[in-house]
Amino acid sequence: MRNPTSSSSFSFATAAAQQQKRQPTAPVPLSEFGREMQAGLARRPRRISPKYFYDAAGSQLFDRICELPEYYPTRTELRILGECAGEIAGQIGPGAEIVEFGAGSLTKVRLLLDALESPRRYLPIDISGEHLEAAAERLKADYPQLAVQPIAADYTMPLVLPAPLPGAGKRVGFFPGSTIGNFEPDEALAFLQLAARMLRGGGLLIGVDLVKDPDRLHAAYNDAQGVTAAFNLNLLRRANAELDTDFDIDGFAHAAFYNAPKQRIEMHLVSRRDQAVSLNGERFGFVEGETIHTEYSHKFTVEGLRALAVKAGFRPLAVWTDPERLFSVHWLAA
Ligand code: AVJ
Repeated sequence: MRNPTSSSSFSFATAAAQQQKRQPTAPVPLSEFGREMQAGLARRPRRISPKYFYDAAGSQLFDRICELPEYYPTRTELRILGECAGEIAGQIGPGAEIVEFGAGSLTKVRLLLDALESPRRYLPIDISGEHLEAAAERLKADYPQLAVQPIAADYTMPLVLPAPLPGAGKRVGFFPGSTIGNFEPDEALAFLQLAARMLRGGGLLIGVDLVKDPDRLHAAYNDAQGVTAAFNLNLLRRANAELDTDFDIDGFAHAAFYNAPKQRIEMHLVSRRDQAVSLNGERFGFVEGETIHTEYSHKFTVEGLRALAVKAGFRPLAVWTDPERLFSVHWLAA
């Protein structure tokens, strides 16, 4: 788990070799990750987008997080989707075209597809084309009646969906996992507005984590086994493998806390001492205790989410929760 994939450790070795030849290090064109890291280290407070968590090692760590006893969201959402599948399918109706935002977990959309009456087409949208094609192939094999049409795109940007297939029912967006919580409030509204426009005449099925006892939230992002810490720190490991950085991984600590007034978990990487990191010939100094912000995970009340949905142009119709009201799944008509 702590090792990067063989391909990325190979590119790490190559980068290190190149760096030795190239002396002193001349600025080279940076990848999108590199540009965002450079900009994120230059600004205050420092930050980097949580979308960079998910390289191969990060995705594996996230899968482990979902299995942790403290991390309730995944299993609770699966339970809601499983137990309420019949009602959800009743709201959606026959012949639906499912648009999933983020390739996501095939487990979740399968629960939905299994419950729906003759779903017509599945359109997963994800920025990572390769991952998406592989996931789509596996799904096609299990649902031979279903048209599967992956779309490699950034779902936070406006995009034109293919015209509905003949005889198709509602166009339904699927956005599970409380991924909406990663957005800043204005970004969450912008995303919902975009989705409402894209799904007009249909609706959005969205999974949203709920505000709850801060101790419970704290535990979910500070697990006893340290998997969440490894997931957070993997960002620096990834930077060292893919970018020209020299982060001392042991020089940073995982920090996650609940900001109650803002209703969000904040994750940071905290410098354990005064140190400097170089990226592409530039040096970035850290004083002890200085942080890089890596993630927001906003929590919602049922009413708060519904009010946001209304503001974005949806009509909230139904909501399903678990008995402990840990997590919610909303059906919003567009
Ligand atoms: C996948 C973004 C919903 O915010 O709970 C898990 C990611 N971060 N543990 C979340 C995550 C730390 C997760 N989301």
